[in-house]
Amino acid sequence: MTESPLRVGIIGFGYIGKIHAHCYQSIPHCFSEPKVQAQVAAVLRSGLGRDAEILHSLGSPLETTSMEEFLAQDLDMVDICSPNGLHHDQIQAALEKRHPIYCEKPLGLNLDQARDSTQAANKAGVLTHTAFTMRYIPAVQQAKAILAAGALGEINNFRIHYFHNSYMDPARPMSWRLQKATSGGGSLTDLGIHMIDMVRYLLGDVDWVKCRTRTFITQRPIAAGSAEMAPVDVDDWALCMLGLKNGAEGVIEVTRMSGGMGDSCRIEIFGSQGSIEVDFSQTGSVRYYDQRRKQYQLGSQGFPTPAGERPMSEWLPQPKLTLGWFKDAHLGSIYDFLLNIRERKESSANFEAALKAQELLEAAYLSASRNTGQIYLPLP
Ligand SMILES: NC(=O)c1ccc[n+]([C@@H]2O[C@H](COP(=O)([O-])OP(=O)(O)OC[C@H]3O[C@@H](n4cnc5c(N)ncnc54)[C@H](O)[C@@H]3O)[C@@H](O)[C@H]2O)c1
Repeated sequence: MTESPLRVGIIGFGYIGKIHAHCYQSIPHCFSEPKVQAQVAAVLRSGLGRDAEILHSLGSPLETTSMEEFLAQDLDMVDICSPNGLHHDQIQAALEKRHPIYCEKPLGLNLDQARDSTQAANKAGVLTHTAFTMRYIPAVQQAKAILAAGALGEINNFRIHYFHNSYMDPARPMSWRLQKATSGGGSLTDLGIHMIDMVRYLLGDVDWVKCRTRTFITQRPIAAGSAEMAPVDVDDWALCMLGLKNGAEGVIEVTRMSGGMGDSCRIEIFGSQGSIEVDFSQTGSVRYYDQRRKQYQLGSQGFPTPAGERPMSEWLPQPKLTLGWFKDAHLGSIYDFLLNIRERKESSANFEAALKAQELLEAAYLSASRNTGQIYLPLP
């Protein structure tokens, strides 16, 4: 590798900001001959003085609370890892410097923000990528290859669940994720957006959605151990029924309140010629039922990489170099974007894809709030 590492500025250095930083840092450990490398050059965060050892291990990047100072650095891209309600304004700021932007999901608090950010990014002509990291799970890539080859025949129906148990404890205090003004929504926004993207990514555009949501714990302590309570105004659970343009119908169910089921996800797709199942307990292989052979098989069975996708071998660490499926998926997504920046290539998970997901999310919440029938896309 002759070119110097891309200089990355990370905004927000909480849970996922540190995961991203570790991914940039891990590239030379995970790929024997990386075509591109990256160095965390600056971190913009809400307070200084934490995570000294992690920052030291990253080569002591500039740490600041000032957007001006952050953007004054010599950066090759900006990576947004802040709470959802900040994404829009931070995207606008990064666009003033015309930096390529990698942004965590969802793109914004609502459809208006997502539209604004996508239009502004298109106008600035910058490369963008959304952290739809579930696309970068090997079993999902294999499923995509099988579906793109048409091996399932006509798609009849699908069934997806994605369950966390992270908010079971009523004593868990209020956070930005539990208030609509700072998150845009609850489990459907946080987890469901991955599955909403998954439906579009694997099966195509959505025609309509009908959704139900519930909030099981309606107030929480304002801080750990506090007796003072604040209302929760986002969903703990959501169930969406979707109709696709190709005629298939199916459901997505998500919750952050499923006791004992952390990161439980299953994607089942049924067609006239067979079916596929992706289960997060076995992220390495899709389970494919071929109706002609009348047998199950594991893996993609040699179906070619679909058009527009980068072959897995180019972004997935070899088995002996894995960071575990969750970090591998983030690494794959990040590395794909770094390669795209070097090659000046558009990502399939760009802001346009994030906007489509946000539109469906908004339609789902509209349906839930009206408690009526289907909401058809596109929204006005
Ligand atoms: N793709 C995934 O798998 C995945 C997983 C978790 C989170 N996320 C997304 O990542 C984003 C962050 O989530 P998280 O779990 O890391 O949250 P978090 O609360 O752990 O971290 C957010 C960080 O942003 C900082 N912050 C707040 N205001 C800021 C500001 N004005 N400027 C800079 N930093 C500021 C906070 O201090 C905090 O450290 C969210 O959009 C979330 O949806 C994605």
